[in-house]
Amino acid sequence: MFLQMTRSEEEMIKVTHFLNAFWSVCGRDMISAFDLSPFTVICDLGGGAGGLARECISLYPNSTVTIYDLPKVVQLAKEHFVTPEESRITFHGGDFFTDPIPEADLYIVARVLHDWADDKCLELLSKIHKVCKPGGGVLLVESLVDDDKTGPLDALLLSVIMLVQTEGKERTPSEFRKLLTAAGFREMQVKKTGKLYDVILGRK
Ligand SMILES: C[S@@+](CC[C@H](N)C(=O)[O-])C[C@H]1O[C@@H](n2cnc3c(N)ncnc32)[C@H](O)[C@@H]1O
Repeated sequence: MFLQMTRSEEEMIKVTHFLNAFWSVCGRDMISAFDLSPFTVICDLGGGAGGLARECISLYPNSTVTIYDLPKVVQLAKEHFVTPEESRITFHGGDFFTDPIPEADLYIVARVLHDWADDKCLELLSKIHKVCKPGGGVLLVESLVDDDKTGPLDALLLSVIMLVQTEGKERTPSEFRKLLTAAGFREMQVKKTGKLYDVILGRK
């Protein structure tokens, strides 16, 4: 959502650098929160500049990751962020609401759902569920708010930013469970990482 607000390519590169920098600090904590080695074909929806895709191919040597994002973001990632040596990372330009999304074992959806209202989240998760291979899953990376909504402070502050800037918010594990169940996912595991972002694995 923030990328869509940028006014020039230069500004877009700066925002993308800022977003991606988080994953050089704590991307490994996200990708190692669960054993993702059974999932070899991975699609990072709204994958941006590929910080998590990079962590994935480095931690799981049998994995390939497709970064799916809007065409102009994919172009930017190819030109400025992902090197040709990272050949297990490929790209797919499209709009995940209106265009088809590729079949995969695992979909990473990192810092995407917090941009969107519940109905759009459900639309996207249902679409993922439909194309996800049997036994596959979805890995949500978000800043989790406690179920009683009293903390943690950093998640609440992020939620205020999302409420002001986007149509979304940070959500609680119960809110994610409701969305995942409605989309058809049968099982959900939550990992609080102790970092700014946490991880939820939903299984088909
Ligand atoms: C907050 S960024 C997160 C990027 C990346 N997942 C990360 O954690 O660094 C949200 C991403 O979703 C992408 N996005 C937003 N709407 C989209 C759409 N309709 N189809 C595909 N990608 C979209 C944006 O371009 C952006 O890269």
